[in-house]
Amino acid sequence: MKIKINKKEIEAREGETILEVAKREGIKIPFLCNHPDICVTGSCRICIVEVKGKERYISACSTKVEEGMEIETKTKGVEKVRRMNLELLFSQHKEECDDCVWNPGCKLLSLAREYGVEINRFEDRKDHYPDLRFGEAIDFQSSKCIDCRNCVEACDEQNVSFLKMEEKNDYYEVNPDKDRGCVYCGQCIIHCPAGSFESVGEFEGVAKLMDENNDKEIVFQIAPNNDKEIVFQIAPSVRVSIGEEFKMETGVAQTGKLVSALKEIGADAVYDVSFAADLTTIEESNELVERLKEDKLPLFTSCCPAWVRFVELYYPEFIENIATTRSPQIISGGVIKEFSKDPENTVVVSVMPCTAKKHEIKREELTLKNGRVPVDYVLTVREVGWLLRRKGVDFPNLKESSFDNPFGEVSADAVGYGVSGGVMEAAVRHVFATVEDKEICERIKEREEFDTSVAGNKIRTKKVSGLGNSAKVLEELKEDPHRYDYVEFMACPDGCIGGGGQPIPTSREINKIRRKGLLEEAEKGKHCFTFQNESVKKIHKELKDRRDLFHTHYSKKDGPQEITEI
Ligand code: SF4
Ligand code: SF4
Ligand code: SF4
Ligand code: FES
Repeated sequence: MKIKINKKEIEAREGETILEVAKREGIKIPFLCNHPDICVTGSCRICIVEVKGKERYISACSTKVEEGMEIETKTKGVEKVRRMNLELLFSQHKEECDDCVWNPGCKLLSLAREYGVEINRFEDRKDHYPDLRFGEAIDFQSSKCIDCRNCVEACDEQNVSFLKMEEKNDYYEVNPDKDRGCVYCGQCIIHCPAGSFESVGEFEGVAKLMDENNDKEIVFQIAPNNDKEIVFQIAPSVRVSIGEEFKMETGVAQTGKLVSALKEIGADAVYDVSFAADLTTIEESNELVERLKEDKLPLFTSCCPAWVRFVELYYPEFIENIATTRSPQIISGGVIKEFSKDPENTVVVSVMPCTAKKHEIKREELTLKNGRVPVDYVLTVREVGWLLRRKGVDFPNLKESSFDNPFGEVSADAVGYGVSGGVMEAAVRHVFATVEDKEICERIKEREEFDTSVAGNKIRTKKVSGLGNSAKVLEELKEDPHRYDYVEFMACPDGCIGGGGQPIPTSREINKIRRKGLLEEAEKGKHCFTFQNESVKKIHKELKDRRDLFHTHYSKKDGPQEITEI
C-alpha cells in the first residue's frame, strides 16, 4: 500500500505500524516505551504523530498503517505535545542522572536534552517511592518508573510473573509479588526504557579495590595501598557486545581491546572463561555418558543460574535432572585460585553478560572445600563500560592484547557457549569424540532438536532459550519424560548474547548480529573442539578428583522472595 510520511510517498506493508515503516525508511520518530520484542503498550506517548483526518495525535508504535494515510511526524503541534509528555514522564522519574550507569546511553535523558525539557518542571510524584533489591542481583528504583508495563510483560514472558501492575490512589504502579520469586534473569532491565531496573552495582567496589591496589588515580575513596592480585575473567559472549558500550559496531568482537583496557586500569591478569567452558564440556559430557549408562535421562544443562533457580523455585520435581557440573565462571574462578601463588589475596572479577551470575557467586553450595569463594565480583557488560569510561580509557583506539596463560587457550566450541545451543553442541561433540572416537563437525547448535545415537543408544537433544519456552518444554517432559534425553536451557532469549547484563538496547534483532559475530570469532581460534585443547586436558587431568571445583548440588527453594528496601 502507499502512504505518505512528511509528504514523501512510501510503500508500506499490510500489518506494519507507522513506527516500523518510519524506521525502515530512515525517518526519525522518537520513541521510548516501544521494545520490538514485547507487546506494544503504547503508554509513553513520545512517538505521537499527526494523521490527516484524525482529530487527535496518535502513537506511531501502536497504530497500523492504512492505505493512503498521510502522516506528519514533526509539526509544531506534535513537537509541543511530545515535549509536554516528556515533562510529564519526568514528573514520575526521579532524576539522578549523574550517578546512573545508564548515562550516557540513556534515551530518556537524550530526549529531554533534544527537546529542551525542563526536567524538574513538575514535582516528582514518586519522590518517596522505595528502592527495592531482589536477592543480591536486581535493584528496582520505583521512583524512576514511568508505568509503561514493559518489565511486567518481560517477566510474564519469562513465565516468572514476579512483577505486577497495581492500582493505587488513581495511579498504577509496579510492585513485586511477595509470594513469587525472582530468578534474576535481568530481562526487566533490558526492556525498561527508564533505567528503573538495574543489576546490583559492583563496579564501585571493584574500582575502589583497583585504586587502592594501584595507588594511582583514586576515583572513589582514599584507602591504604594493598597488595591484591586482581584477576579478570571474561565470559564468551562479552567479546561481541562490549564494543556497543563505546558506540562501536554491533556484533564485532573486541576481545583484544577489552584485555588491553582491563590491563590499563590495573588488572594483574585477564583470563578467558571459555577456558573453563572447555572444562565444563568435559565434566558435563561425562555426566551425560554416565546417565546414559544408568538410564537416568533427561539431563539438563547447568550453566545458566537463572534457569537453575527457575527449576528450584517452580519445577523442583526436575532438580535431579540438572547436571551437577558447575558453570564455567565458577569452575574458572576456583581453578584460578587453585593455581594462584597467593589465593587468599587473589580477587577474581567476572565480566558477564548476566545479572543472575551476581546471585550465583553468593550461593553457599559453591564455596570450595577450603572455604574460599571461587569468584569475588561479577560485573555486567554495562558496568565494565561504565568503569572504563570513568577511568578515561579510550577503548576504540586501544591496541589489542591477548588473554593471559595458562587459561587463555580455548576451543571454538567453548566460545560458542555464548549462544543458544552452544553448550549442547560442545557436550554432544565431546561425547562422540571420547566414546565413539568420532568427530562431528556439523553445527548442531543451529538445530532446535538433534537425533543421534551414542554407543548404540539413541538420544534426542533439544535447545531452549527463554524461560517461557523452558516452561513449555518442562510441561512436555511431565507428559512424556522420554521426549528428550539432553536439553540445553538458557534463561535469556537467544542465550547469553541476549543476557540481562548486556548493553542496552538488546533485542532479538541485535542478538542475531551478536550471534553471527560470536560464531565467526569462535572459528578464528586455535582449536575447534574441546578434545583438541591440550592445555585444558592437562589441567583437567591434574584436578579431576577435586569434586568441589567441578560439581555442586541444588535444592528446592520456597518461601517468600528476599525483597529488601535499600
Ligand atoms: S519499571 Fe521500567 S519497564 Fe517497568 S513499568 Fe516502570 S518504566 Fe516501565
Ligand atoms: S530479573 Fe527476571 S524474574 Fe526477576 S523481575 Fe526481572 S524479569 Fe522478572
Ligand atoms: S542465559 Fe546467560 S545471561 Fe541469561 S541468565 Fe542464563 S547465564 Fe545469564
Ligand atoms: S513509544 Fe509509542 S507510546 Fe511509547
